[in-house]
Amino acid sequence: MRVAVIGAGVSGLSTAQSIYQRFHASGPLTIEVHADRFTPLTTSDGAAGLWQPYLYHGNAQETQWNKETFEHLLSCLRSPDSVKMGIFLQSGYNLCTETAPEPSFRDTVLGFRQLSERELKMFPGYSFGWFNTALMVEGRTYLPWLMDWLRSRGVRFYQRKVNSFEELANDGAEVIINCSGVRSGDLQADPELQPGRGQVVKVYAPWLKHWILTHHFTGTFNNSPYIIPGSDLVTVGGVFQVGNWSEQNSSIDHRRIWDEACKLEPSLQHAKIVTDWSGLRPVRSKVRLTRETMQVGPTTFEVIHNYGHGGYGLTIHRGCAQEAARLFGEILQQRGWTSRSQL
Ligand SMILES: Cc1cc2nc3c(=O)[nH]c(=O)nc-3n(C[C@H](O)[C@H](O)[C@H](O)COP(=O)(O)OP(=O)(O)OC[C@H]3O[C@@H](n4cnc5c(N)ncnc54)[C@H](O)[C@@H]3O)c2cc1C
Ligand SMILES: *[C@@H]1O[C@H](CO)[C@@H](O)[C@H](O)[C@H]1NC(C)=O
Ligand SMILES: *[C@@H]1O[C@H](CO)[C@@H](O)[C@H](O)[C@H]1NC(C)=O
Ligand SMILES: *[C@@H]1O[C@H](CO)[C@@H](O)[C@H](O)[C@H]1NC(C)=O
Repeated sequence: MRVAVIGAGVSGLSTAQSIYQRFHASGPLTIEVHADRFTPLTTSDGAAGLWQPYLYHGNAQETQWNKETFEHLLSCLRSPDSVKMGIFLQSGYNLCTETAPEPSFRDTVLGFRQLSERELKMFPGYSFGWFNTALMVEGRTYLPWLMDWLRSRGVRFYQRKVNSFEELANDGAEVIINCSGVRSGDLQADPELQPGRGQVVKVYAPWLKHWILTHHFTGTFNNSPYIIPGSDLVTVGGVFQVGNWSEQNSSIDHRRIWDEACKLEPSLQHAKIVTDWSGLRPVRSKVRLTRETMQVGPTTFEVIHNYGHGGYGLTIHRGCAQEAARLFGEILQQRGWTSRSQL
């Protein structure tokens, strides 16, 4: 069985991992990853890597995939590899300008509770919020770790732009996994998929130990400031411009991000600015995770789509990868390659 994965961001690499883990013992399996960008140049590398879904977006299915990812990462924390994987626990604040219903991830994260009056006093302009411990999964560490993991198990990587599914099918791929992120639309039109441009400022400010996310339910929702300390640098945002395909940094956005963040956390004025980064979130009403049989001329092949993870791709990746692997198992079963008991 030959499988070709398109995409080497967190979706593509983790899907390759889940397929390998579940099926490598069932028979000869060749997995290839094709991508025009590899770490550290994917969207998944620039993201801060905080595990947190949108407060209220998402269906029950996505909530489940988010939770599975959290549980998976939490179990990995006990492994000595967790440092190489770029995962660690981190606590912080969600701040709101008004009272809000509890988010779907309340029972997934650790120690979720409402903020006290004393805590809120630290954040003028915010009158409500929550504190909890979540996980960080930093793409620029996690992606190299996933690639090493896959490489040492015989997975091959090819740097190329894929122009069509047929291209890979003609090369002998029987199943194609489409994890191409925001540019998925190049391969098969998807009017639902849009870029959600983000820009962040990465700074050196090692005294900051907690993440701070803000939520404005009216007006400026798309540009609420956030501060997320990582293992090395602090990621300061945020911009969320739906429909903007530009990956260029904007000096106007930079200034606005910085002014807002310094209002939220005045000590940032002493931080050393290291770099700006802009990336495109693959925005969609929900993740597209489905199977499709395609026929081009005489060639029939299977495609599994796994894209459209918006601003929560690291948060949801493992649950989606496991679901993609389950769909892959259905294909194997239909081809008589594996028995039901193995699925
Ligand atoms: C500013 C910002 C901050 C973010 N912060 C967080 C956060 O804290 N937590 C979180 O969970 N999420 C965050 N996100 C969202 C997260 O980055 C994305 O959801 C996630 O990276 C999507 O991963 P992906 O693997 O689907 O796509 P990508 O990482 O974009 O990877 C796509 C891959 O597909 C390849 N590709 C595409 N088209 C082709 C083609 N035709 N041929 C060959 N290769 C192709 C690319 O080369 C690349 O390898 C953030 C996003 C932004 C922009
Ligand atoms: C991958 O998925 C995206 C999103 O639908 C789609 O636009 C693209 O055509 C798909 N690629 C292939 C090769 O099917
Ligand atoms: C899109 O982003 C660029 C910066 O990369 C900026 O100059 C431009 O104004 C943005 N366009 C819109 C419509 O926001
Ligand atoms: C954005 O700015 C950083 C430096 O601050 C630079 O390294 C990066 O290349 C810039 N991106 C673009 C697309 O110009």
